[in-house]
Amino acid sequence: MYAVKDARFIQEIQKLAANMYRMGWDERNGGNISYLVPEEEVRYYIDSSAVRRHFSMDFDASPVAGKYFVVTGTTKYFKNIEEYPEVNLGLLRISDDGKGYDLLWGYEDGGRPTSEFPSHLMSHIARLKIDPKHRIVMHTHPINTIAMTFVHELSDRAFTRTLWQMITECIVVFPEGVGVLPWMVCGNTEIGEATAAKMKQYRSVIWAQHGIFGTGQDPDEAFGLIETIEKAAEIYMKIAHLPILQNIKDEELKELAKAFQLDYRKDFLD
Ligand code: 13P
Ligand code: ZN
Repeated sequence: MYAVKDARFIQEIQKLAANMYRMGWDERNGGNISYLVPEEEVRYYIDSSAVRRHFSMDFDASPVAGKYFVVTGTTKYFKNIEEYPEVNLGLLRISDDGKGYDLLWGYEDGGRPTSEFPSHLMSHIARLKIDPKHRIVMHTHPINTIAMTFVHELSDRAFTRTLWQMITECIVVFPEGVGVLPWMVCGNTEIGEATAAKMKQYRSVIWAQHGIFGTGQDPDEAFGLIETIEKAAEIYMKIAHLPILQNIKDEELKELAKAFQLDYRKDFLD
């Protein structure tokens, strides 16, 4: 058996968390990550019968029963994940009945998974139905995206259109658009259900005055998606109050979509 902290799936999350922190997205314990790891990758590192602690859940996660996840710990600081993975991360397996999970490694100071675990698991379940290669959910607090939710209409269509207009590549990176939720209490199953409902259409969901949930087939895809949304939001926050002399028109976005053969949300353009 190899040491878990040497596993590629742990190192990928350490690197991801460090990059998120350096972007200024994850102050203190702000943000969280959950990474679905296939059993064939876990088995070299873990005796799956050696359960350290069991936790129960108040919602049904049976669609991901038996699956393994690396999950950031609640209240853990992103800046510390790279140096101390065994305290700040946990490796969990969802119980066969979907009503709880076993801790197999990590949270060495007695910690537990992120308070946003319901939103993460429900998002995994929603995305896996659409994309069997889906693997990662990350939540983070990027400054400009949050700022934009104070001054911009929050419909999926209006928010997406503005982001698409900010950088030519946006419609290429997220042709399906972005989902947006109004401000809600976080850390519960209600916001989890609302997020997962949006995840049926989108890989990213913005929580007004809070942050973003981004998903993907690997850490790079989810990170790149959030990075692009955040950059577009930054441009919006820099120009929204200025007279606009020229911008990208809907007809031009349609031309671009044609040139790149994009399967985009056609009803989001006029
Ligand atoms: P956790 O410390 O529980 O992961 O919460 C951070 C956060 O961003 C809540 O939305
Ligand atoms: Zn948050």
